[in-house]
Amino acid sequence: MKNYKIAPSILSADFSRLGEDVEKVIDAGADMIHFDVMDNHYVPNLTFGPMICKSLREYGITSLIDVHLMVKPVDRIIPDFAKAGANYITFHPEATDHLDRTINLIKDNGCKAGIVLNPATPVSYLEHCIEDLDMILLMSVNPGFSGQKFINGTLKKISLVRNLINNSEKNIRLEVDGGINLENIGEVAKAGADTFVAGSAIFNSDNYNQTISLMREVLSKIK
Ligand code: DX5
Ligand code: ZN
Repeated sequence: MKNYKIAPSILSADFSRLGEDVEKVIDAGADMIHFDVMDNHYVPNLTFGPMICKSLREYGITSLIDVHLMVKPVDRIIPDFAKAGANYITFHPEATDHLDRTINLIKDNGCKAGIVLNPATPVSYLEHCIEDLDMILLMSVNPGFSGQKFINGTLKKISLVRNLINNSEKNIRLEVDGGINLENIGEVAKAGADTFVAGSAIFNSDNYNQTISLMREVLSKIK
């Protein structure tokens, strides 16, 4: 089996007892924690910042934390997230004026860097930066909310980006975010993704362990 990773998005977790809920999802087999940062400016919703990331580390969460920045501007907050314990930091290219500078800022702060493409954002953004990336995140919904429906057109885009990654011969994760569930995770993997964000499909299920195990079972059958 490929090196698939399941990344529950804590946007759908119980914020009144976040530490416990994150611990629970890790014990249930999550590979990394997806941390959705929204600013009510770049996206029409507001979530949490570096203090909450730091609190999770202090609570004892040692798993990889994959910070998805849906904020504009981007650069000011990057060092704060690095200090707060982020491992991956991804951002939307439309939200920065200097793509290359932002990628380097993330790396200079000791994190892995990635860019996020919205459903209608062209893959041409990757042309001059793909070799510098550790992760490419493709949105399969418009960013801002959990619980939206997977946009099917993303599947073609996943295959396209998978080819670009293979041609680059670099070790770049291909993550997909939005509307992933037990019914479609197989198709998303077949198209070429290796990292799967799931918010509502995991946190709104009665048994995290069972949901993650069923997802892995589907993934184990992908050739
Ligand atoms: C949307 C966020 C996603 C979202 C995923 O803007 O980036 O990570 O929480 O939630 P589901 O899996 O419910 O679509
Ligand atoms: Zn996200």
